[in-house]
Amino acid sequence: MPTITVSTTDGVARVNLARPDVRNAFNADVIAELRDAFLRLSDDPSVRAIVLGGEGKSFCGGADINWMRGALELSYDENVADAEAMSDMFRAIDRCSKPVVGRVHGAALGGGAGLTAVCDIAIASDETLFGFTEVKLGIIPAVISPFVLGKIGASHARALFLTGERFDAARALHIGLVHEVVAPDALDAAVERVLGEIATAGPSAVAAAKALVPQVAAASYDDSRDITARAIAKQRTSPEGQEGLRAFLERRKATFAR
Ligand code: COA
Repeated sequence: MPTITVSTTDGVARVNLARPDVRNAFNADVIAELRDAFLRLSDDPSVRAIVLGGEGKSFCGGADINWMRGALELSYDENVADAEAMSDMFRAIDRCSKPVVGRVHGAALGGGAGLTAVCDIAIASDETLFGFTEVKLGIIPAVISPFVLGKIGASHARALFLTGERFDAARALHIGLVHEVVAPDALDAAVERVLGEIATAGPSAVAAAKALVPQVAAASYDDSRDITARAIAKQRTSPEGQEGLRAFLERRKATFAR
């Protein structure tokens, strides 16, 4: 049985965690399937955007506690290999060339909060419960930390990683873990609005904008001058950049290749 579902309609791929009985907690199968799905969708030219969500009552209750029970028997080296596989899954989503919209509801705990962090745009329903709850289990939010820190920064990470406290959607919005909070019955419309914005943007410009952020974040001040100058020059001279600017000057709608 696959642990996720993937369907694509009109350029939008919908990836759903599909283990609602355990609140979409992830195990080795989920990790491998998610990684493979995002690597594939990243290279699929027909896909303009990806929505990541979860079936049933919750987005994701984090790592499967029954699966982690198996880790009690693993050696240090086997634990390293397990964690690296999980890191590869988060990286595949984080560096996916397509914009990833998170549809977050119910609970996003532990690795579920990590999945929220690797979405480019995360939209949560106002009843969602968040938490980096690992310390409550005597473990730490290690693998997700680079992605979470990139979103909420060290100050909020210190407060929330050390307490493991659960927090509401208003706080998730305040710390930058999510970008919009809406009533549960407005969640799908909020996701559609974002998809509508992406649909009217140039696909290669969206991909280049996404790639630019980690490049600039990792660059020195001096290197950033060269990186950004080359990035904008490449985009301006591309067919998409030419069409977008011409269409604006000619007061018409741009026609971007799909
Ligand atoms: N791993 C394994 N099973 C999980 C799970 C997890 N991370 N999260 C939930 N489940 C299971 C529960 O054990 C329960 O199984 P059961 O029906 O056999 O008893 C089922 O999912 C439903 O959970 P329940 O707590 O009844 O649902 P809820 O909707 O009231 O609450 C959560 C959902 C996610 C808030 C709650 O289940 C929870 O706090 N889970 C623990 C999350 C956690 O600590 N994750 C961090 C891991 S590092």
